Amino acid sequence: MQNNRVSLTQFIIEEQRRVKGATGDFTSLLNDIVTACKQISGLVNKGALVGVLGSAGSENVQGETQKKLDIISNEIFLQTNEWAGHLAAMASEEMDDIYPIPARYPRGKYLLTFDPLDGSSNIDVNVSVGTIFSILRCPGNCENPTAEAFLQPGTQQVCAGYAIYGPSTMMVLTTGHGVNGFTLDQSIGEFVLTHANIQIPADTNEFAINASNMRFWEKPVKRYVDECLAGKTGERDKDFNMRWVASMVAEVHRILTRGGVFMYPLDSKMKDKGGKLRLMYEANPMSFIIEQAGGASSTGRTRIMDIQPTGLHQRVPVILGSRNEVERIISYHQDA
Ligand code: AHG
Ligand code: MN
Ligand code: MN
Repeated sequence: MQNNRVSLTQFIIEEQRRVKGATGDFTSLLNDIVTACKQISGLVNKGALVGVLGSAGSENVQGETQKKLDIISNEIFLQTNEWAGHLAAMASEEMDDIYPIPARYPRGKYLLTFDPLDGSSNIDVNVSVGTIFSILRCPGNCENPTAEAFLQPGTQQVCAGYAIYGPSTMMVLTTGHGVNGFTLDQSIGEFVLTHANIQIPADTNEFAINASNMRFWEKPVKRYVDECLAGKTGERDKDFNMRWVASMVAEVHRILTRGGVFMYPLDSKMKDKGGKLRLMYEANPMSFIIEQAGGASSTGRTRIMDIQPTGLHQRVPVILGSRNEVERIISYHQDA
């Protein structure tokens, strides 16, 4: 039987061979991240059978109620990635401060940020959730990493990716040379390349936004959505379809698959917070993936990856997806 399947392990080793002077450190780090995602996938999949659903009865630094799986997934990420000597520190949605690699392990040259379980409000209702991560280089002396070391614009990311735990478990990655998707073959426990060189169509007639916030939106966003809703009878002269999964991972995955635009814009009730989604472990990694697949990602006013972060848990407005639609929404912001 001919076997021309490419595993994720093979794919990243072959990518490493193309990088002059690569030590294998990065490849090995990525392998550990993949292992963590496989473990989370297993738990998400077993759900109530292993008692992991429901609330943990605690709150994270952002004042959000934590699910049991938010905390378990965070622990899995820490344990799987702390020992190998590739990282100096980690930061996550579920931890107030950074997690420097414990002194009993060697410290390495990379920093890892992650959202261990994205869309966790969907976990109890059996709808797709995911894990988002971003890898940065640790600047300067990595012996004693600080939160400041993490505050690098998204353009500095070495790698970004997400795992989506849906009908199948997939891993989607970029290291700055396009975007590739891998599907977990449960029978062998390996991710297999199934979606090579993903490209987002530049045009779309599908948008995603939490419309319950409509009365709080800024004018440019309201204008865009009104025009979509008017469909053939309005300015746009075509009908639009709407989706809202409430898992950013699932929305981005849909956009990578068939195009679309996703918005979590600034609105008047969260103005002091700066937005809903977090820059370091949601907006930046997703923006890197979207741009690498030919899409665009902006706050409406600024390219997300150009933002100089000021805090680990900083929030930003997010408008991303099919290039021509995102550019249209940016132009509406300029008009206003
Ligand atoms: P998380 O579960 O990691 O806190 O992220 C949830 C985020 C994002 O995935 C999703 O797009 C959005 O919050 C959903 O917001 P609403 O609850 O307003 O629908
Ligand atoms: Mn999230
Ligand atoms: Mn989360």
